[in-house]
Amino acid sequence: MCGIIGYVGDERKAMEVILDGLNKLEYRGYDSCGLAIIENDSIFIAKKSGKLENLKDFLKDKEERSFIGIGHTRWATHGNPSDENSHPHFSNDKRVAIVHNGIIENYLEIKAELIKDGCSFTSQTDSEVIAHLFSKYYIDDPITTILKVKERLRGSYAIGIIDRDNPEQIICTRKDSPLIIGVGKNKNFIASDVPAILKYTRNVIFLDNNEIAILKKDSVKVFNSFGVEITKDIIKIDWDMEQASKNGYPHFMLKEIEEQPSIVEKTLNTYTDNLGKINFNSSLNIDLSKIKEIYIVACGTAYHAGLQGAHFLKNISKIKADVDIASEFRYSDPFINENTLVIFISQSGETLDTLMAMKMSKSKGAQTLAITNVLGSSIAREADMVLYTTAGPEISVASTKAYTAQVTLLYLLAIYLGEKNGVVDNESYHSYLDIIYKLSNNIDLILKKKEEIKLISGFLKNKNDAFYIGRGIDSKCCQEGSLKMKEISYIHTEAFPAGELKHGTIALIEEGTPIIAIATQEDMVEKMLSNIKELKARGAYVIAITKERYTNIIEISDNFITFENIEDIIAPTVANIALQLLAYYTAVEKGVDVDKPRNLAKSVTVE
Ligand code: F6R
Repeated sequence: MCGIIGYVGDERKAMEVILDGLNKLEYRGYDSCGLAIIENDSIFIAKKSGKLENLKDFLKDKEERSFIGIGHTRWATHGNPSDENSHPHFSNDKRVAIVHNGIIENYLEIKAELIKDGCSFTSQTDSEVIAHLFSKYYIDDPITTILKVKERLRGSYAIGIIDRDNPEQIICTRKDSPLIIGVGKNKNFIASDVPAILKYTRNVIFLDNNEIAILKKDSVKVFNSFGVEITKDIIKIDWDMEQASKNGYPHFMLKEIEEQPSIVEKTLNTYTDNLGKINFNSSLNIDLSKIKEIYIVACGTAYHAGLQGAHFLKNISKIKADVDIASEFRYSDPFINENTLVIFISQSGETLDTLMAMKMSKSKGAQTLAITNVLGSSIAREADMVLYTTAGPEISVASTKAYTAQVTLLYLLAIYLGEKNGVVDNESYHSYLDIIYKLSNNIDLILKKKEEIKLISGFLKNKNDAFYIGRGIDSKCCQEGSLKMKEISYIHTEAFPAGELKHGTIALIEEGTPIIAIATQEDMVEKMLSNIKELKARGAYVIAITKERYTNIIEISDNFITFENIEDIIAPTVANIALQLLAYYTAVEKGVDVDKPRNLAKSVTVE
C-alpha cells in the first residue's frame, strides 16, 4: 500500500533522502510516486505514474536545493494510477502539499462542500480534500488547524504536510494507518516503515492513533488528540540495513526463504529458557480457566499459519479453536465474549481488516493476543497481549519467513497452553519440543533440493492452471502453496482437500494438468494414493511432495520432492518450504517481478 517519507534537516538533500526512502518503500507495492520540496519560498511538486525510475528520470537535471520535503508511493484506490492522481497534492493557493496513506470515507461530501466554496480539484483522489481543508482552516498554528481537519475526516489516514509559510517544519498525524518518526541528529524523518529511514537513524518514535507531530530539523514535538504536548519514548530498532538488503541474493524472496532455518532457531531461543521450558515471560497472561474457546483471525498467508496453529491447539492443547479470515470475521457478529481468546496474526501488524477485527473483539469483551513481526505496529499496540515473531524485516511482498516464524510460535503456544490445560504432561511436553527442535535442520535439508525444484518449475512455467491437493492438515498447507504460486507466478491455482476434487473440479483435469499432491500424514497416505490414481487415470501430471518412506506415492507420481521422515504434526511446515521454492522458481522462469508482483501490496492498510 502507499508509502510515506518525509525529511527535514540541516543539509540540502531533501530530494536525495526522499528518493532513497521511496526506493526502500517500493516493496510495499505502488503504481505511482511523487515528492514535494520547499525551495525559494515555494513548494515544488513532481509526480509520475509508474515506477520510481520515471520520477528519478524526470528529476535527473534538477539541482538539489532543499532542506525539507515529503514523498509518496501510491497504490491506487480512488482514481486510476496517473500523474494527476499521484501524491503529493497541493492546496489551491499552493501553500501546502500533502501525502496520505489510507482512505477518507467521507471525501465526496467534503469535496462537494469545498467545490461550493470555490475550490477546484485536480485529481480524482479522496486524499486531495486534506490539502484544501488544511488551507481553508489554517488559523495561526498548525496544531489547531490539523485538529480541525481531523474533525472532518472519517476513515483511515497517515498524513504528512509541508507548508510554504512555515518552511522549517513537517506536520503529520495518523489514524489506523502506519506512520513512524525517525529521530536523527539535526535531521528528522517521517515514514510508513522503518527501512525508509534506517540508513539515517535507528531511533524511532511510534505515533499512536490520533497523535500529531511537528518535526523541525532539531526537534520533534508530539501532541495528543486534544493538542496537548506529550512525551513519547524513543525506541531503538535492533535490526540493520544488512537485514533489509538483498545481501547478494537475486531476490529478497529467495534470501527470506533461505533465512528460515535460522529464524526457527531464533524463535526457539527467544521463547525457551535454558531449563528447556517455554517462556513467554510477562507477554502472556491468559487465564485459561476462563477461556472456553479460541479464535484465530488473520488474512492471507497469516491466515494459513493460523490454520496450522488451530491444528496444534486441537491436537496438542486439546482446546477448541476456530480460524477465520479477518475481513469476514469482523462483519460476522461472532459469538465471542470474555470467555473467548482471539489470536490475531499479522506479519506487518498493520493489516486494516485484522486491526478492525481486533477492535471489534475487544468491544465484545474478548481477550486479544497479537502475533506480529513488527515492533510498535498498530496491531501490537491495540492487543491485550503481544508475542513478536523474530523473523526480522520481510521485504518481499510474498510472505515466507514470517509464515514459518508464525507457525513455530503457534506450536510453542500450543504446548504451553496444553501444559496449562493439564493435558500435556512432562514427558509429552519434552517430546513435542524435541519435534520442533528438528524443524530447522529439516528445512535446511529441503533447501538443499533447490536444483531439483527448479527443474520442476521449468515444467510448470508454461501451464495456465495447477491444483494443489492434500488431506487433513496437508490440505491447509495446500492453501498456502497455492496462494504463493498464484501471487508471484500469475498461474491460476486452486487448493482442494483431495477427496473433494471428484465432487466437481475433476472435470477440469485433462492431459498434462499439473497436480501438486502433498502427502505427509501417515493415516492419509492410502487415501492420497487412491486420489492420485484417479487423477492420473485422467491424464494429470502429478508432482508429489512427500516423505521419503512413502514410496508408493513416489512411485506413482510423475515427479516428486521428498524430505526426511519428520513427525506428521510439523511435516506440512517442511513441505511448505518446497512449495515456496516451487513458486519462486516458477516466477523466476516466467520473468515475473518476484519481489513486487503486480497489483499487490506488502502492508494492506485499506479494506
Ligand atoms: C501473501 C501475503 C499476504 C499477507 C496478508 C496479511 O504472500 O503476504 O497474503 O499474508 O496480506 O498480511 P499481514 O500478515 O501483514 O497481516
